[in-house]
Amino acid sequence: MKFFVDTAEVSEIRALAEAGLVDGVTTNPSLIAKSGRKMAEVIAEICGITPGPVSAEVTATDVEGMLAEGRYLREIAPNVAVKVPLTEAGLRTCRALSAEGTLVNVTLCFSPAQALLAAKAGATFISPFVGRLDDIATDGMQLIADIVKIYRNYPHLKTEVLVASIRHPIHLIEAAKLGAEVATLPPAVIRQLLKHPLTDKGLDAFLADWRKTGQSIL
Ligand code: G3P
Repeated sequence: MKFFVDTAEVSEIRALAEAGLVDGVTTNPSLIAKSGRKMAEVIAEICGITPGPVSAEVTATDVEGMLAEGRYLREIAPNVAVKVPLTEAGLRTCRALSAEGTLVNVTLCFSPAQALLAAKAGATFISPFVGRLDDIATDGMQLIADIVKIYRNYPHLKTEVLVASIRHPIHLIEAAKLGAEVATLPPAVIRQLLKHPLTDKGLDAFLADWRKTGQSIL
């Protein structure tokens, strides 16, 4: 499973990349706004930190505008994945840009039907938002299960399931059990994956016993 980091905070991405935990990055207009930086500048910097796909989302809502923005964004760096919303204009843009060899991440997916349409449009990634479905008492992980099952029936579809809107480690574990190719995780959730109280407790006990020996390895 590939771990993408869902943030535009360069310091967070750099720290996680140094730990070998970054296979790519996803941003969206809200995350760019939160960064307080110019979009092209921060995307270029992120693309320099990781060779993996870096999603940069268009903000136009018509095909002509999306195509112009997508063709501009992909020139920032070779690993830019242009992100388009799951609308008719977004799918038309996805079809055109993917035909031009551009990585395309189709976002704001909330149904299996939408995911099937995105794959037929040549999307590189589909981003179903599990957390936002959970937030309205709908089983977000069921959407992932449905998409994975549908895609497996049609091996010619090459779209990778990029599980987004992840709120906690269980979302990640369940997505991995289902075989989703990618999960995009807030930095805090990645750090939560590492932690277990029994690991900390066991290490403390090992080191306490070791100190009693008076030895040192070097
Ligand atoms: O990349 C999509 C992701 O950022 C959405 O997550 O937490 O805003 O639902 P969230």
